[in-house]
Amino acid sequence: MEAAQRIEHVRAEAARLGDSRIGSLLQADPARASQFALRVGPLYANFSRQRFDRSAIEAVFAALTAAGAEAALSALFDGVSVNVTESRPALHSALRSDLSSSEIARAAHAQAQDARNSMRRIVEQLHAGGISDVVSVGIGGSDLGPRLAVDALAEAGASPVRVHFLSNVDGHAAQRVLAGLDRSRTAVLLISKSFSTQETLLNGAILRDWLGDDSRLYAISANVERAAREFSIPADRILPMWDWVGGRYSLWSAVGLPIALAIGMDGFEQLLAGAAEMDAHVLRTPLSQNMAAWHAATAIWNRNGLGFGAHAVLPYDERLKLLPNYLQQLVMESLGKSVQIDGRPVAGDTVPVWWGGAGTDTQHSFFQALHQGTDVVPCDLIGVVGPAHLHANNHRALLSNLFAQAEAFANGQASDDPHRSYAGNRPSTMILLDSLTPHSLGALLALYEHSVYLQAVFWGINPFDQFGVELGKQLASTLLPVLEGRDEANDAVTRELIAQIRRQG
Ligand code: F6P
Repeated sequence: MEAAQRIEHVRAEAARLGDSRIGSLLQADPARASQFALRVGPLYANFSRQRFDRSAIEAVFAALTAAGAEAALSALFDGVSVNVTESRPALHSALRSDLSSSEIARAAHAQAQDARNSMRRIVEQLHAGGISDVVSVGIGGSDLGPRLAVDALAEAGASPVRVHFLSNVDGHAAQRVLAGLDRSRTAVLLISKSFSTQETLLNGAILRDWLGDDSRLYAISANVERAAREFSIPADRILPMWDWVGGRYSLWSAVGLPIALAIGMDGFEQLLAGAAEMDAHVLRTPLSQNMAAWHAATAIWNRNGLGFGAHAVLPYDERLKLLPNYLQQLVMESLGKSVQIDGRPVAGDTVPVWWGGAGTDTQHSFFQALHQGTDVVPCDLIGVVGPAHLHANNHRALLSNLFAQAEAFANGQASDDPHRSYAGNRPSTMILLDSLTPHSLGALLALYEHSVYLQAVFWGINPFDQFGVELGKQLASTLLPVLEGRDEANDAVTRELIAQIRRQG
């Protein structure tokens, strides 16, 4: 079945259901409240407030099956070159799981184990070496995952070092990070798969010069040669990365060194174990019982069936406030494609805009639009059952807000006054973590990775390349000499803008 037919199949089901309301779907099939839900280890997900019925979700699973979802999952885990446009496997699962007997997956798993031994050595060195602060320099996939995990798991383990992150090329970012740090007690990690990323090289140079002593400079890269050449970092302070791990899938590799420094190497291994639990579930479970397949099918339904152009991620946990930023790269860099693997235009819409923020703060900013705006924005509401603090009243208030918002989105409220009326019928998925631990965070992130992969399989696109980010980078490099006054811009508007800033001196 072609992607166009799969999408048509989903649209036909959506047309059958028309404007069915979530409340009516639940009334017609009360068991769905508990049956449209799955548990995997510490994670529970409930999809019963989505606008599909049993036969519609089964139709999406059938279309996913017709797309070859199960074979595609095996291919992913086995190290087949699923990143077709770059002729590479995408073996992030081998960084944490040993589920495939293929030679390539086993070799990757062994390399990952070796790298973890080196990580452990560096963590021990830095923890014992009188270091108070570590600055992790990297951007995109070399920043967002570690930044999220370090922030989310701050309560998970006492560490002798504070970990800071520097990503933006804006010099204010470097200035702010360095303020208050003692250079004699600071170590710097340069994280870049390619070691050619402008932001990381420029910030790395600032940090190297600031340190004034390169004995506390470490690198994590697939381009060991360039790290050694440009920053004079010796081999025993460079940890490997590989072509077979995409940047946005790399936090499980040595790119996760900031996480291991913040929560300890044992904590980092628990993060991997949580992801491995999700890997085993996703690989071995039929789609109709598979949490990643439900999540992906929901995304496909909301995009292709109901035509929604945005998706909100709303963690009701302060520790997960960076999750939307992390997921924006994972989802939008992976699925922001308009052509299928064979180069033909995609047959329907792919990724919607992903955005979000932590509740309850966001209730007081953009929730007005979620409740009464003209666009329906489906969302993932994420809660944590057991907190890591002792403020029980606050936690009850947090959870009551989480559940209240989900009810309000679904049920709305009629009123004679149109200004005070809530249309409702706004779909949401509820994801609950027993508690926020390295293990549960690992499972949650792996869930999203596999959901993204299954969506890509459905649409027939490659989720592992990102050529769309290259043009802007190329143009920025041609504009550097223009800003230095050595060249003229080709584009008329850019010429005018540069003239403006020159007039201001
Ligand atoms: O934004 C483009 C991108 O290539 C991402 O995919 C990647 O995570 C990021 O830049 C950083 O790349 P690198 O790790 O090579 O510095």
